[in-house]
Amino acid sequence: MKSYKIVAPTDAERTALLEAFPRMTELSAELRDKAQVAWASMVASSSFAEIGAVPFSHGSKARLIDHTNDVIEAGLALHALAESRWGWEVDRERLLAILLLHDLDKPLLMRRENGLDIDTPVSSRIPHGVLAGLMLAELGVGEEIIAAVATHATHAPLRGPDPEVLILHYADLFSADAEIQLTDRMPFFRRCR
Ligand SMILES: [Fe+2]
Ligand SMILES: [Fe+2]
Repeated sequence: MKSYKIVAPTDAERTALLEAFPRMTELSAELRDKAQVAWASMVASSSFAEIGAVPFSHGSKARLIDHTNDVIEAGLALHALAESRWGWEVDRERLLAILLLHDLDKPLLMRRENGLDIDTPVSSRIPHGVLAGLMLAELGVGEEIIAAVATHATHAPLRGPDPEVLILHYADLFSADAEIQLTDRMPFFRRCR
């Protein structure tokens, strides 16, 4: 049985998502609509009542919203540097969509019960990123975006050569480590072997 369903967000839910992710307004109307449907569907299919209740990761007090916005800002800053200093040509809207949607499936991968984070059954069947990619494909999102989202996890078997993929990688790990170093977990940059 499929672990998620596609739902049409209400106007209030669309407004709440724009408040949660302010940069969403910079997407074209078509891509913004798909991003809103994707986030609303993922949350509606999860155990979380609203996007603001979804944690960044297991045992984290940080919110997924804040991590996602951190990754968006870090990624756009890296893009500006790469464009001005190295002459990179990156599709900014595609990059923004990738940054915004990279952790789309996290609400479905765990549930929080009595302060404990418990893996959901689907999290042991479909890897992080791939589940988001399935939904984005169903919504007709472009394959470049799907590929970047589906392969962004640190344990992914491959990562493509597109510059958006590289920017997402460093923006994501930088933002993740800023949060992880405040916890008992080892930050990625200190995992030397
Ligand atoms: Fe992730
Ligand atoms: Fe992330």
